[in-house]
Amino acid sequence: KKTTVKDLLSTPELMGTEVEAKGWVRTRRGNKHVQFVQLNDGSSVNNIQVVLDMARFTEDQLKPVTTGSSVRVTGKLVESMGKGQTSEIQADSIELYGTADPASYPLQKKGHTLEFLREIAHLRPRTNFFGSVLRIRSSLAFAIHKFFNERGFYYFHTPLITASDCEGAGAMFQVTTLDLNNLPKNEDGSVDYSKDFYAKPTALTVSGQLEGELGATALGQIYTFGPTFRAENSNTPRHLSEFWMIEPEMAFYDISDNMDLAEEFVKYCINYALEHNIDDIRFLSERFDKGLEERLRFVVDNDFVRLTYTEGVRILEESAHKFEFPVYWGADLQSEHERYLVEEHFKKPVILTDYPKEIKAFYMKQNEDGKTVRAMDVLFPNIGEIIGGSEREESYDKLLARIKELDIPMKDMWWYLDTRRFGTVPHSGFGLGFERLVLFVTGMTNIRDVIPFPRTPGKAEF
Ligand code: 4AD
Ligand code: MG
Repeated sequence: KKTTVKDLLSTPELMGTEVEAKGWVRTRRGNKHVQFVQLNDGSSVNNIQVVLDMARFTEDQLKPVTTGSSVRVTGKLVESMGKGQTSEIQADSIELYGTADPASYPLQKKGHTLEFLREIAHLRPRTNFFGSVLRIRSSLAFAIHKFFNERGFYYFHTPLITASDCEGAGAMFQVTTLDLNNLPKNEDGSVDYSKDFYAKPTALTVSGQLEGELGATALGQIYTFGPTFRAENSNTPRHLSEFWMIEPEMAFYDISDNMDLAEEFVKYCINYALEHNIDDIRFLSERFDKGLEERLRFVVDNDFVRLTYTEGVRILEESAHKFEFPVYWGADLQSEHERYLVEEHFKKPVILTDYPKEIKAFYMKQNEDGKTVRAMDVLFPNIGEIIGGSEREESYDKLLARIKELDIPMKDMWWYLDTRRFGTVPHSGFGLGFERLVLFVTGMTNIRDVIPFPRTPGKAEF
């Protein structure tokens, strides 16, 4: 195993030995007697300090060692006198891999705005803040697989190109091999898809849930973890047009089992990051959001509030004057409403259940009242909705009636209905927006800053 900067900073046995470090120069400073290079290799938010005794090196030799250049250093690892540093390398040699011309390397001085860094997304991973975000992101992805694996769930792969529309939102990216400048037409003027690759209209998936239900009604409990796509034109700090979603689906789970799992799941992920990424969390906290660590611990240590949509709306109506958007029974809650419940009223994460069926998807189990469905949204401080899920309608007749009521084309749905025709079972599931989880754990406020290459309306650089 290659020794990383993180190892050099945290392995006492290496102290006093000859070591090697390879990485990118963050800064070089000093005088004609001694020079100090801060070296980072991505393994930690912390740099290793390299001390160069200028009796052994020449000015000319160090001239190309500028911010952004890449080097290999060898020397002795010694205890550091500098405050905040554990160890440093007393260099015997320094070798240059590549220069980074100070006149054109954009990451020169510290303190670039997040907006500017978004414009140079190809270099952004080299900044401290984005390094921390990416290490946390990677860790959370691992925690997710670990959580489900430990509980006997199977990782189930669902297609990215689909011929059905799970959420019925109508905001899908079309996939076609037809020549858009010369579309083949039927006699009535409509597009002739028989010439298309799949001989029918297809799109990028908005959710793996419907196929996930096929997995759950065979394997018992599954989860998906993959990219999903939504062409909704929502230019907000919480929406991407390409985002990653985790969708567990469980046979023999009712909505209350579903809520228990969702709560245990997010707490597990946050805890995992607190245990494995505390340096990065503290760095981000120091830099952007002083309350971050405390907020993460609070969420992990406290029960989420559970209440119905109807109760939630009653609470919101009492503060209606505080909101830009109207709130009444039947209204789709806006992010300001969700955040009021979580941040001001309960001051805790909230699981809101039993929404009006008109504002939720066709597959949700209908309650006896004929008006509401067994939906559950998990609402988080600073985020709003982080999870959306439900108990699913398991009755073939009720599901079919709802599909007809909503005019969903049957030719797209026959395979889904087969889950209810053959050995139907009560089942439930939910979807966690991965970037919203990363937002919460990093304390960042814009979803564009927690994914390496954000896709938003008008932006598909790189
Ligand atoms: O609430 P949504 O639309 O639910 C579904 O897609 C269900 N099929 C999930 C299920 O039951 N299996 O999306 C689920 C979550 C949201 O709570 C949110 O966290 C995230 O996905 N999400 C987005 N994240 C980033 N950008 C977007 N445009 C998002 N749309 C939804
Ligand atoms: Mg939702």
